[in-house]
Amino acid sequence: SGSGKFFVGGNWKCNGTKDSITKLVSDLNSAKLESDVGILQPLFFNPYVVVAPPFVYLDQVTSSLTDRIEVSAQNSWIGKGGAFTGEISVEQLKDIGCKWVILGHSERRHVIGEDDQFIGKKAAFALNEGLGVIACIGELLEEREAGKTFDVCFQQLKAFADVVPSWDNIVIAYEPVWAIGTGKVATPQQAQEVHVAVRDWLKKNVSEEVASKTRIIYGGSVNGSNCGELAKEEDIDGFLVGGASLKGPEFATIVNSVT
Ligand code: G3P
Repeated sequence: SGSGKFFVGGNWKCNGTKDSITKLVSDLNSAKLESDVGILQPLFFNPYVVVAPPFVYLDQVTSSLTDRIEVSAQNSWIGKGGAFTGEISVEQLKDIGCKWVILGHSERRHVIGEDDQFIGKKAAFALNEGLGVIACIGELLEEREAGKTFDVCFQQLKAFADVVPSWDNIVIAYEPVWAIGTGKVATPQQAQEVHVAVRDWLKKNVSEEVASKTRIIYGGSVNGSNCGELAKEEDIDGFLVGGASLKGPEFATIVNSVT
């Protein structure tokens, strides 16, 4: 990758039980990761690895996972805690050792109905409170077919750019919706094309420095067999993995596709 450390996230979505998660954590703890290589490597966490369990298991995972892998939430509330039934605040996430949050995931946009502005505000709040944000963007199949891929991604990016205090702790995840959970992975060229466009957008609308430093990771049917080819692309700086992140050894293979 052209822009620093490779970053791999495992998004467990709404999957798992106490037992299956105990097993997954133990598989992750015993997996050989590239970051084990060399004396200095672990200090730099290269690749940088995070997993995002469902809220109710966050505490179990933060207390049982070795610290070479950080823990992310899959969502967070837009402001301080209080009378917001069913929500989880950023402060609570930090309290149990969570360092990251995934925001703008397509399932929250398209299944649950969160809009660009709501997601942008959540990101700004989480960043201001010191969480890292995995900011997801991506087009629907009909948007791609109508030639609107870039427009959609840029509009989603702009909603983040308009409000975030800084880009230091943001990782952008490009996840074409048609590739999520479908087994239809984007080709390396399709992903690279959008990643270049996103970097170019950052250059024009934020700064050259942010464009070159920000990691742009790809998500959508990434697995142990297709990660190698994708990772070779210059602007693919890592992955956000769904289904394959539920299997410890396969997730380790993806982490180790670091280039
Ligand atoms: O956030 C990752 C995700 O949306 C991709 O899911 O199952 O296609 O790897 P999956």
